[in-house]
Amino acid sequence: MSIRFHISTFGCQMNDYDSAKIAQILAPMGYEQADDPSDADLLLINTCSIREKAERKVYSLLGRFKGLKRRNPSLIIGVGGCVAQQEGEALLHKVDCLDFVFGTHAIFDLPEILSEVGKNGRRKAYTDFTYRFDPPMESAALETAPAKDPSVKSLVTIMRGCDNFCTFCVVPYTRGHEVSRPSGHILEEAAGLARAGAKEITLLGQNVNSYRSDEGKTGFVDLLQHVNRIRELERIRFTTSHPKDLSSELIHAFGSLEKLCPHIHLPVQSGSDAILKRMNRRYTRNEYLEKIQRLRSVCPDISITTDLIVGFPGETDHDFEATLELMRRVRFDGAYSFKYSDRPPAKATRFEGKVPEELKSERLQRLQALQNRITLERNQRFTHRDVRVLVECQGRRRPSQVSGRTGGNQVVNFPGDRSLTGRIVSVRVEEALLHSLRGRLQSSG
Ligand code: SAH
Ligand code: SF4
Ligand code: F3S
Repeated sequence: MSIRFHISTFGCQMNDYDSAKIAQILAPMGYEQADDPSDADLLLINTCSIREKAERKVYSLLGRFKGLKRRNPSLIIGVGGCVAQQEGEALLHKVDCLDFVFGTHAIFDLPEILSEVGKNGRRKAYTDFTYRFDPPMESAALETAPAKDPSVKSLVTIMRGCDNFCTFCVVPYTRGHEVSRPSGHILEEAAGLARAGAKEITLLGQNVNSYRSDEGKTGFVDLLQHVNRIRELERIRFTTSHPKDLSSELIHAFGSLEKLCPHIHLPVQSGSDAILKRMNRRYTRNEYLEKIQRLRSVCPDISITTDLIVGFPGETDHDFEATLELMRRVRFDGAYSFKYSDRPPAKATRFEGKVPEELKSERLQRLQALQNRITLERNQRFTHRDVRVLVECQGRRRPSQVSGRTGGNQVVNFPGDRSLTGRIVSVRVEEALLHSLRGRLQSSG
């Protein structure tokens, strides 16, 4: 009988990518994926610690898994990802049903870790920062191997870690220093995914603009140009860009690389210079606005999305108004917005002027109401227009429909057969909603 594992994934696309890699690493060891945790012999949680809420989810899931272990004492439970990296050994003390902890750099060591687990009843944390895209010999091939049945849209990590130390952020502590992956590895994986059926690739990194590899010879735009040449691939996206490192070269790539989608996620965080400075973002509001203007002059229809934090320590009404004003000025296509959350050891944890929870909630609500209005208005620009849609899947709620995305990343639902999956089709938009567009198939050529 085969051994079964289940993996629960929280957090960002980096974790999605890592979880897919973990499945690939476990497959040759005889592990099969179980959809339901209660059917598994090995339970893994890939965790996120970006905000307190994300961390809390991990502990509540572990509470559930504890019940499963009580019923099945041979069940093995391991926690990886950002909470694991931060907590290390401490997590083993806090959670008694846990067998092992593995850090963000230990993924390729999982075969070895699993062979050690449970020996002499020892529980252990594997959280040293040793992995630098140099997995052990036996798993080196897996580093660039594409997932077996990639979805139409696939992810490829191009770098790990972050050296920016924004004062609110825990990532530099959970993912370590920024390291770029050799371009050859990335291209091999991306081409493999494309050959296996992926039509769209998203290149992932905390700050993709500072990608530099192959002894400094390959920068991010060079990499995009290489990926653009992969024949079977139709679309390229990337995330995340840091505004301070968004170069003229990259801005121009939106006008010259035909496979690069007209969408950029460019987290601004705040519209107030005083707050941006204390966040250590290293750009000003005007510099940000100027980059937006240049993006729009190269690519007028570009979709621009962002991340925003409300209630950063010391944020006054005036600072908050400056954020609202920036939003009105840029007119983002969408925004992820968050209440500031203390994340030790990030520096802002020690800043004075903590904003009360109710005020944070009130600001978040105002900000989201404004953004929803703008998003809907922005989506309405597509009404009665034909858009090119990469079909991703059959409609979840309506099986007679299919769902896909425009180059600008807007979701489009329309009546159609699931055989369209993986094709780029032309759709006439009939209605624009807040989270999606509705339309009718024009041609599937
Ligand atoms: N590397 C990306 C962001 C990764 S984290 C970048 O630099 O833009 C994703 C988002 O989470 C951030 O953009 C920020 O808006 C939010 N975030 C990070 N730390 C946070 C904190 N302590 N409290 C609230 N939101 C936070
Ligand atoms: Fe965090 Fe800033 Fe790095 Fe993004 S750039 S991961 S927000 S430290
Ligand atoms: Fe979360 Fe770690 Fe990503 S903290 S957002 S999973 S890098």
